[in-house]
Amino acid sequence: MTVALVTGATQGLGLALVEGLAQRLEPTDTVYLTGRYIDRVTAAVQAMPGSGAQVRGELLDVSDPGSVNRFAKQLTERHGGVDIVFGNAVMRMGPDDDPHAIIEKYAEVNNFGTTRLLRAFAPLLRDNGRLLVVASSLGTLHHLAPVLHKRFTEPSSLDELDEQIEIWRDAVLERRTSAWPAFINIPSKIGQVAAVRILAGQRRAHDLEHGILIASVCPGMMNTPTSALWWDVSAAPTPAQAAIGLLDMAFDPVKPEQYGELVRFGEVVPFS
Ligand SMILES: NC(=O)c1ccc[n+]([C@@H]2O[C@H](COP(=O)([O-])OP(=O)(O)OC[C@H]3O[C@@H](n4cnc5c(N)ncnc54)[C@H](OP(=O)(O)O)[C@@H]3O)[C@@H](O)[C@H]2O)c1
Repeated sequence: MTVALVTGATQGLGLALVEGLAQRLEPTDTVYLTGRYIDRVTAAVQAMPGSGAQVRGELLDVSDPGSVNRFAKQLTERHGGVDIVFGNAVMRMGPDDDPHAIIEKYAEVNNFGTTRLLRAFAPLLRDNGRLLVVASSLGTLHHLAPVLHKRFTEPSSLDELDEQIEIWRDAVLERRTSAWPAFINIPSKIGQVAAVRILAGQRRAHDLEHGILIASVCPGMMNTPTSALWWDVSAAPTPAQAAIGLLDMAFDPVKPEQYGELVRFGEVVPFS
């Protein structure tokens, strides 16, 4: 029986990933549609078409260590492990938001939420498992001043990376941004890609031997309320269309060159 999990699945890409997973899996399989508010989770589960795998709703707030650890424990007790994990949750931010006012929550959800997810669920991956973090093509070092690159290339553990994210968060909080870009999505996405690279560096030999793929993925520009705050996305692909390539990575044989990398439309996007 295949067990899959999607974070931030109450709308947008996360919801489309759940629907796509359910369609591609069998009625004996389980897809967990998770989110931070139980009423939104319940409504999203009820709106599912109902074919394919069983879709179960669960509360999973990635900004809450207790919530993440509790669900990892439940999953282990129920199933003994997990086969497919999509880390997709993101805190929505618009051009009118003051980075100084939102940075603590933003880093908590998007960055510490990612490292929390990796720590909790990577050890539960079964053979042929997939752990895919939805990032963005903004998550490469080209978007960052060279003086800052080593903050994302030198850490060799998720704890060390979290320390660098804290330094960035505190700089934004205290308005000492100097070389950091004003668009906080950039360091945040680079941090997500760096987290995946670090975890992959630690697990590579084991995972490739066991058919496991850990990678970050870019869905490309999509038409969601989040992107519509920034760009004209009226002609962009829907979340369901953007989900197809990501779902293919969950079901196709592992391409070793993608292991640990940021992948966009099937191609590796160089980190530096
Ligand atoms: N949209 C684009 O064009 C685009 C392009 C490149 C990359 N991406 C990436 O694709 C991913 C999905 O983007 P999207 O546009 O689909 O976003 P979205 O529509 O804003 O959906 C974000 C999801 O994350 C959930 N969430 C927020 N905080 C959470 C928390 N603390 N714990 C758990 N879930 C939480 C939201 O829940 P609620 O329903 O409760 O708010 C929602 O379900 C993101 O990682 C984004 O950066 C998007």
